[in-house]
Amino acid sequence: MTLPRFLAACRRQPTDTTPIWLMRQAGRYMPEYRAIRAKHSFLEMVRSPEVAAEITLQPVDLLGVDAAILFADILPPLIGMGLELDYLHGEGPVLYNPIRTPADIDALRVPSAEENTPFTLETIRLLRPELDQRGVPLIGFSGAPFTLAAYAIEGGGSKHHARVKALMMGEPAAWDTLMTKLTALVSGYLVAQVEAGAQAVQLFDSWVGQLSPGDFRAHVLPYVQTIIHEVRAKTGVPVIYFGTDTSGFLSDLKSTSADVIGVDWRVDLRAARRVLGDDVAIQGNLDPIALFAPWDAVQPRAADVIQQAGGRAGHIFNLGHGILPETPVDTVRRLVDYVHEYAHQPVP
Ligand code: CP3
Repeated sequence: MTLPRFLAACRRQPTDTTPIWLMRQAGRYMPEYRAIRAKHSFLEMVRSPEVAAEITLQPVDLLGVDAAILFADILPPLIGMGLELDYLHGEGPVLYNPIRTPADIDALRVPSAEENTPFTLETIRLLRPELDQRGVPLIGFSGAPFTLAAYAIEGGGSKHHARVKALMMGEPAAWDTLMTKLTALVSGYLVAQVEAGAQAVQLFDSWVGQLSPGDFRAHVLPYVQTIIHEVRAKTGVPVIYFGTDTSGFLSDLKSTSADVIGVDWRVDLRAARRVLGDDVAIQGNLDPIALFAPWDAVQPRAADVIQQAGGRAGHIFNLGHGILPETPVDTVRRLVDYVHEYAHQPVP
């Protein structure tokens, strides 16, 4: 049996056309999502396997993307560690008891995935037969330790990430304890997702580009390496490592040993390929804001991404970061069709 084109591209195998999926492809830009959201809180949706499975399938059925990403969020696994999480309308996530001291870190629990997030594992079990019928693979995911630590310490989103960086730089022993706990949580969570049926996993390290290359190497990379090593050893599925603003330490991303590196629109894919070499797949990297422009402005930018990737092997088309809430659905649909048609042409 031939692999679905998303999984083939993760392995840098040739595909009939470039696969495309979009980070945050299930979400508020879709009226079908908003209709369900009107009836539930966000955490209720994540904790209801039937609802979460239905939302996961929406972009697959409505857009024709080449992979489904599990509907969940990076932050709910922190609840079982002892953090109180909520999502406020218009303001995003908030953690009411952020980590501020080494004693807070010592108090954090590391629950198993079965105990902590059984609803997400059940969502995956519901999804696999549905997706198998459609021939579309399922991506599981987790926040990466730095990005989870950023939310846990800042208490929500942050511009400068001053508290998390201060703890990382000023309290190296406490930082190691925190990152070691998060590493155990994340690798257990990802392995459990694969055991439940996920066919690839993505680590979202959205805010890692806030760090200097030296701090990334010393205080973040070793934990990411441990997670990827464990997931690979226990499951063998492809691992995608995604961060934004990573152009300053692309060569270190290669050392994560991820199968796929996700980059944002600030990186030229030709430069990324030169630095990363040929033995890794690249995912990205259209600016999500481009989707607010008329189609005539989107199309050449999408073509440019495909050209920069230099052919089909080992490229997964995506945005450089998550799709934004007000994005016009029609433009998203045209993008998916365009990538499939354009990249299907013979490579010149
Ligand atoms: O990609 C998907 O469609 C799958 C589901 C998914 C969500 N969040 C659903 C969600 C995934 C993979 C995520 C990842 C996530 N969550 C990240 C990493 C990716 C990135 O964008 O950097 C981060 C940093 C978060 C944390 C988070 N969750 C924020 C900052 C917010 C609020 C801002 C926003 O975009 O809404 C959320 C809430 C959230 N997660 C929503 C969705 C659909 C919106 C909730 C709502 O309907 O009110």
